[in-house]
Amino acid sequence: MSLTTFRAASADRPGNPAAKVTVPSLLDKKLAHEPITVVTAYDYASARLVDEVGLDVILVGDSLAMVMQGHENTLAITMDEMLLYTRGVRRAVRRALLVADMPFGSYQIDESEGVANALRFVKEAGAEAVKIEGGRERVDLVRRIVGAQVPVMGHIGLTPQSVHRMGGYKVQGKTLAAIEEMRADALALEDAGCFAIVLEGVPRELAKIVTDELHVPTIGIGAGPDCDGQVLVLHDMMTMTFSAPAKFVRRYADVSGIMREALGNYKRDVETHQFPSDAESYHLSQEMRDRMAALTEKAG
Ligand code: KIV
Repeated sequence: MSLTTFRAASADRPGNPAAKVTVPSLLDKKLAHEPITVVTAYDYASARLVDEVGLDVILVGDSLAMVMQGHENTLAITMDEMLLYTRGVRRAVRRALLVADMPFGSYQIDESEGVANALRFVKEAGAEAVKIEGGRERVDLVRRIVGAQVPVMGHIGLTPQSVHRMGGYKVQGKTLAAIEEMRADALALEDAGCFAIVLEGVPRELAKIVTDELHVPTIGIGAGPDCDGQVLVLHDMMTMTFSAPAKFVRRYADVSGIMREALGNYKRDVETHQFPSDAESYHLSQEMRDRMAALTEKAG
C-alpha cells in the first residue's frame, strides 16, 4: 500500500498514521524513558477502539482461549483459531504494532515448525511480530524466527502455557536461584534478538533489576511499575471476566455492569411492547398506503 493510499484509508480515523508504532520506535521509547502501553484485543471492534485511543501495542494474546472461548486455561487454542482472531484485529489496526501470540504446541515440537508458524502469522494474518513463552530453552528458536525477519517478543516469569509444570498460576522468581535463572533467561532472550520481553507475575524488585539490565523494553503484567511498559488483558480491565481478578488487575470500567443493565432494559421493553416504537419502524409511502386502503375498501 502506498503512503497516499494509507492516508486515504485512514481519513475517517483519528490519530496520526505517520506515527505508526514499530519495533525500533519501541526501543526509542525505552531510551527516552517513555512508558510503553500494551493491551490485548481479539476482535475488530475492540482493536479499533484501542488503536484509535493510541495505545502502542495490540497483543492478540492466547488468553483469548479463556476470555473469548471460556476454556479453563490457554492450552487448547490452535494456530487456525489464533490466525482467525488476528485477521479480524488486523483489519482494525492502523497505528499500533500488532503482535500475535504463538499458541501452545505451535513452537514446542520442533524449531522449523515454529518458524513456519511464525511466518503464517505474518503472511496469513498481517501480524508484525509474534510472542513466545519461555527462557533460555527458546533461544535457538528465537534466533531462527528473527533470522526469518519476524520480530519476536519474549515472555518469562509466570508463563501460562506452563501452568501444569508450575502447578498453577503462581508468582515466579521468589528465591535467589529463581532470580538468577530469570535474569539469565532475560539476557539470553535479548541476545537472541527479542525486541521486547513480557515479565509476568514476578516481584517488583526482580522486574526492576531485569529492566535495568536489558537494552530492550520489558513489558510488565503483575510485575510492578518499574518495567518499561505495561500490558493488561482488555477483558480484565473492563470487567468482562467473571472470576475474581488477580491482584495486579485494575478495573478501569464495569462494562459487564453496563451490558447487564442495557440487556435488562431491552428485555423489559420488548416484553412490555415498548420496543420498537413507531418512530423506530419503517413505513410505506403515503401513496402506497392510500392504494392499499383503496384495495382493502374494494375487497370489502
Ligand atoms: O495471552 C495474553 O494475553 C498474554 C498477556 C497477558 C501478556 O500473554
